[in-house]
Amino acid sequence: MSETVRLTRQEEIDIITIDNPPVNALGPGVPEAIQGAIESAGSDPGVNAIVVIGAGRTFIAGADIREFVKIVRGEKPRRTLLPLLTAIEACAKPVIMAIHGQALGGGLEVAMAGHYRVIAAGAQVGQPEVKLGIIPGATGTQRLPRLAGIAKAVEMCAFGEPIGAGDALASGIVDRIVDGDLLAGAIAFAREVAHMPAPRTSQRNSRLSESDPAIFAAARQQAQKTKRGQTAPLAAIEAVEAATRLPFDEGCALEAKLFGECLYSTQCRALIHAFFAERAVSKIPGIPVDIQPREIRRAAVIGAGTMGGGITMTYANAGIPVIVKETSQEALDRGMATIRKNYAGSVKKGKLAQAAMDERMARITPQLSYAGFEDADIIVEAVFEGMALKKQVFAEIDAIAKPSCILASNTSYLDIDEIASATGRAGMVLGNHFFSPANVMRLLEIVRGEATSHEAIATCMALARKLKKVGVLAGNCRGFIGNRMLGPYLREAQFLVEEGATVADVNQAMYDFGMAMGPLAMSDLAGLDVGWRIRKEFRHLERPGVRQPLVADLLCEMGRYGQKTGRGWSQYDENRNVSPDPETETLIEKTARAAGIERRSIEAGEIVDRCVLALINEGAKLLEEGIALRASDIDVVYLNGYAFPAWRGGPMFYADTIGLDRVLARLEEFETRHGGELWSPAPLLKRLAGSGKTFSSLDQEAAAAAG
Ligand code: CAA
Ligand code: NAI
Repeated sequence: MSETVRLTRQEEIDIITIDNPPVNALGPGVPEAIQGAIESAGSDPGVNAIVVIGAGRTFIAGADIREFVKIVRGEKPRRTLLPLLTAIEACAKPVIMAIHGQALGGGLEVAMAGHYRVIAAGAQVGQPEVKLGIIPGATGTQRLPRLAGIAKAVEMCAFGEPIGAGDALASGIVDRIVDGDLLAGAIAFAREVAHMPAPRTSQRNSRLSESDPAIFAAARQQAQKTKRGQTAPLAAIEAVEAATRLPFDEGCALEAKLFGECLYSTQCRALIHAFFAERAVSKIPGIPVDIQPREIRRAAVIGAGTMGGGITMTYANAGIPVIVKETSQEALDRGMATIRKNYAGSVKKGKLAQAAMDERMARITPQLSYAGFEDADIIVEAVFEGMALKKQVFAEIDAIAKPSCILASNTSYLDIDEIASATGRAGMVLGNHFFSPANVMRLLEIVRGEATSHEAIATCMALARKLKKVGVLAGNCRGFIGNRMLGPYLREAQFLVEEGATVADVNQAMYDFGMAMGPLAMSDLAGLDVGWRIRKEFRHLERPGVRQPLVADLLCEMGRYGQKTGRGWSQYDENRNVSPDPETETLIEKTARAAGIERRSIEAGEIVDRCVLALINEGAKLLEEGIALRASDIDVVYLNGYAFPAWRGGPMFYADTIGLDRVLARLEEFETRHGGELWSPAPLLKRLAGSGKTFSSLDQEAAAAAG
């Protein structure tokens, strides 16, 4: 029939198999080929019913996202999906959609155009378009409420989370769950319905009467909270709402209009960039294709503190047995109590079954000795941040671990090569830098030392996926990618308060920009003592005569470490409610005046530019140094480790959207005003701006060169 669609027959049932690896996306030619098959089968008198099924790992993952990028760049849309859906629904023979893997976006829209749907037990369906900054654009917002009811449709279209087979059946999206062979089950179902009148989803209006203004009001409120700053979720709600008051065709027309508005938005470009950026991170140039990741069957973690506890949970969650070692019974008990409390919290919220918690706890072996470490495939060190201690621990574990065991440090800033020098296996030593809380945050920086082997890197990249993290390869420098960029970002936040902005001004401006929290609020949450300890470790590297923030050390000397002590940049009550701390504001003002810093009122726009451009400029430097492989890797780090707003695409993509010439001009302005030591523009950024290029174009050139 075509390379991507096959039409075969089993007695009186025609089977249309979509085979467009890897995920059966509806790329060029696929909808047309399905339509051809539907029309051919539909007009064949020997056919009683038609089953549509996907080959490989999934049904249909949706429209081909790369096509959207081309359309936004000016290519003419193909508009082949709507004729396909019309042809399916109008088919004279019942069309049964057989779903395994995922039916997402356009994939679910195709499925809903069918007359019936059967689903494999482990499969999922969803309308995840909002995650790409668009809304369902091929009748999804009009067909889904007709099958699933208004509340479910609003939830799925506005928030984009897929649902499992059981939920899909209960809500009316599918007609049957098939245990065992899906095709056989679908054919059996087809025979049952072959001679019955085929229901058309577009005409099933009974569930539209479930409409209630409260559903839409609640969804809008939730979108403003959990999808703050994003336009697509609100557009999706509007489109579903339209289904309740407009006939099907008019609802579809409104959906198409809203879809178009979303598609041409910067938010959509940014979110699509984020989608592909996340998938590009695992492509590491120079690692031979025949390098096989090792299987990680057993893990061990050293230190059960803030990070060690979260890392231990991450392994237990992924089904990997894990030993966690501490130095004292008290610290071990405290660490285990926190782990237990975290799991119990999830059980209480209904996010985790008690049995699952018990299984996870059973995978964790708390202990004070190195017993069993000889069987571990990876050992992750998460002890206090200090080189002497890290080296001592690495020497100890090197002596015990089997030769194939990977030794990973969770250090935030320290030199991986120096840590590796304490072992006799530098090839198996690298950084595994998790982010707090480690069991929640998706980012894992995998830090490559000078001698780190391809095998160790490939293993950790594969392991990251298994741990449900996004692994990003980083070079070895102080702070790697994320924390090195955080330095200038936090520096500017502190300079701004010294120059006259209030703590609340700085936090609010960055929150309004879209960050989950402002920089000084984040410092208060992480603990000001953390940075203090690091500054002490690296004080010898400070350059004389270069301006340093003045107040954070003073706050620490006063015992004000942020949320954990109730006071820091702001003050916090016992319920963590935040309010300005007048004493801190006075301290800032007094310290700044004593240092001769001129105080003035500062607008939100300058706060954002100072903080974000500091990130971008440092990002450009570490890109040029090869610490990050791609600009998009830096974006992945900031989106997944620092809650940078996804709809801005990450700091480097954001720079592209402003225009690198404008970024450069502003950097030069800051350089003139605040000095070249801190603000001289990165040479790479200058070159790109000078030649009219972008960070994205640089990534594309590198990908093309790598083949
Ligand atoms: N279009 C183009 N490429 C896609 C794709 C899509 N819809 N979905 C996945 N891919 C590609 C990925 O880029 C990746 O390519 P590389 O191997 O070259 O990196 C490959 O397929 C495999 O993807 P994953 O690594 O993500 O594989 P996974 O097994 O972890 O996840 C998945 C599979 C759940 C389907 C996941 O890829 C996913 O969520 N895809 C996006 C689904 C989506 O958003 N669909 C809606 C599209 S918009 C739409 O359909 C609009 C409409 O209404 C018409
Ligand atoms: P923490 O102080 O909460 O925990 C450290 C734990 O290590 C303590 O419980 C201590 O008893 C234990 N420990 C010390 N020496 C040990 C030894 N020889 N054997 C076994 N256990 C030992 O510290 P935290 O915050 O968990 O930091 C750990 C590491 O993770 C540091 O390198 C830090 O830089 C890094 N990190 C911290 C992040 C954070 O947000 N806290 C984020 C990312 C990395």
